[in-house]
Amino acid sequence: MEIRLDGKTALVTGGSRGIGLAIASAYAEAGAKVMIASRKADALERAAAEIGNGCGWVVANTGDPEAADAAVAATIERFGSLDVLVNNAAANPYAGPTIDVDLGRWDKTLLVNLTAPLVWTQLAWRHWMQHHGGAVINISSVGALKTSEQLGVYGITKAALLHMTEQLAAELGPGVRVNAICPGLIKTDFARALWEGERGLEVAQGYPLKRLGEPDDIAGAALYLAADTGSWITGQQLVLDGGGLVGFPED
Ligand SMILES: NC(=O)c1ccc[n+]([C@@H]2O[C@H](COP(=O)([O-])OP(=O)(O)OC[C@H]3O[C@@H](n4cnc5c(N)ncnc54)[C@H](OP(=O)(O)O)[C@@H]3O)[C@@H](O)[C@H]2O)c1
Repeated sequence: MEIRLDGKTALVTGGSRGIGLAIASAYAEAGAKVMIASRKADALERAAAEIGNGCGWVVANTGDPEAADAAVAATIERFGSLDVLVNNAAANPYAGPTIDVDLGRWDKTLLVNLTAPLVWTQLAWRHWMQHHGGAVINISSVGALKTSEQLGVYGITKAALLHMTEQLAAELGPGVRVNAICPGLIKTDFARALWEGERGLEVAQGYPLKRLGEPDDIAGAALYLAADTGSWITGQQLVLDGGGLVGFPED
């Protein structure tokens, strides 16, 4: 079965590289008109050319509500609709015990990882999906599902994003579906410190599937959830982690 998005428009935050770029590319290949958003124009321009199919781009820091409003408006103006929103951009400015985090970095993590997905979803709902339907996909993390010595603050925001996914799924049905994806360790810039060198090999050994993830591993699932294949799925979290969560703990 071929999964298609012909006639649909998708807006992907953080679409200039990594998982967002892979999702945007998969959507464009499936026939969707795609708009990507991130903070740097040159990276967006390059990514849009790579994605093809008339991909548009808009500079927006997801944590800035005015930029979010402009990005949603630009998408609808350019392509005439907004059927799929992928809240993918995230921040992880702090590593260390949660008990020691300073409020500046706590606020920034919450703003980008939780408040922004809410604001972008509100805008998509108000300007299009409320009357025409749609699908929202929130990129969370396996970090939402367990504690962590270093990444507790990030995990807390990603756990809250999962609850928000369920809450909005309950509120926005039947027209709008809201789902989340929880990736394990994926080889992108964002997680480079966690996978480069020996450390990545060790993590991969702990995964039943014995390899780390690639952005395309996430893109296929994001396509499935966005398209008609996902038409009876809402409020769910799909864990894509090479089996990491069910792997044997180290003895
Ligand atoms: N990689 C992993 O192992 C992993 C695991 C679990 C979950 N995730 C999640 O997957 C998602 C994508 O991560 P990734 O690994 O693909 O990261 P990445 O390769 O670093 O890409 C991040 C993208 O988001 C954009 N971005 C960052 N902050 C932004 C902001 N405030 N406003 C707008 N755009 C912003 C970046 O562009 P600019 O910097 O130019 O703005 C870039 O396009 C995130 O939600 C992350 O939490 C990743």
